[in-house]
Amino acid sequence: MNYQNPRIAAVAEQLRARFTELPVKAEILKAVELKALYAEIPTLPNEERAGFGKEINQLKQELDALVAAHAEAAEALPAIDVTAPFDMNIPEQDRPRLLGTAVGSKHPLMTELDTVLDIFYRMGFTAVESRQIDDDEHMFEMLNFPEDHPARDDYDTFMTTQTDAAGKQLIAPAHTSTMQNRVLQKYKANLDQGKPIAVVIPGRVFRNEDLDARHEHTFHQLEGVFVGKGVHAGHLIATLKTFLQEYYQKELEVRTQPFYFPFTEPSFEFSLSCPFCDKQGCSICGYAGWIELLGCGMINPNVLRMAGIDPTIYTGFAWGGGIERLVMMKNDIEDIRHFHAGKLDFLRQFS
Ligand code: DAH
Repeated sequence: MNYQNPRIAAVAEQLRARFTELPVKAEILKAVELKALYAEIPTLPNEERAGFGKEINQLKQELDALVAAHAEAAEALPAIDVTAPFDMNIPEQDRPRLLGTAVGSKHPLMTELDTVLDIFYRMGFTAVESRQIDDDEHMFEMLNFPEDHPARDDYDTFMTTQTDAAGKQLIAPAHTSTMQNRVLQKYKANLDQGKPIAVVIPGRVFRNEDLDARHEHTFHQLEGVFVGKGVHAGHLIATLKTFLQEYYQKELEVRTQPFYFPFTEPSFEFSLSCPFCDKQGCSICGYAGWIELLGCGMINPNVLRMAGIDPTIYTGFAWGGGIERLVMMKNDIEDIRHFHAGKLDFLRQFS
């Protein structure tokens, strides 16, 4: 818009420049220069007034239009995907495609966990989630690790600087077994009613490990606890075998080897025949034909006793194993660190 009157033309130019800088664009309509022009109208000779007034109105309309156009453009801006910051300096074609904020997808770990939990629900188990900050009592004492027991060192536990009521440092739990005492206490009334305690406990766990393709400081485990009358190791093996056959949808062989955990006696390392090559040997089982999957055993009588359950009447089994491992084997994922890297290229393969 060109204005005939040189003062109006000058103010128009000034205000257009200011408009680009203003954080709140509508403020331009309150510019003192505009007010001054309006105030000038009554001071002008009659014959100039109409033309001058008309041009001020045109300027006002121009500014109104600027403000309206800006508001519209702001509304039309695409949503920003805050999950995907990337380097603006890399060439356009190499930048990640951004997902709209409404197009999220489930993390592959959680999808797998749902599959796993569904099978255990069908087998009569209840699920209880573990916690992400815990104490020495649940991490060690209630699991029959006495003070200064060397097996405490096997867990590379992260300690916080905060302490609990007993003055012991709070802990980022290194396994889901921290929940054993809690679920035993919570469900022990089942036993009086002739029902077993049957609980699975998914949870995020933390270890101060050297990181590599197989070790991550943060990962997930699934714990299982089953207690009743006359429960023995045969039930433990049958339960895990039934779960694994349902999970892989095929007949499998399982085997146990003796192991040591303070909270189980006897303790086992549990392996299954490789579901990917049927014991022929492949890259997933490291050409062994067998996969060592988890730790398990018969719950140590001390652990039952500490939860107020009489081990001369009731016995039980427990197990605990990593969830990432299952997903990695199923999907041929070579590096555990992908799970927490937040890379969309990785995550999109599962959406
Ligand atoms: N908490 C053990 C670990 O993370 C695994 C484990 C072993 C859990 C034996 C159990 C069990 O419940 O009975 O290494």
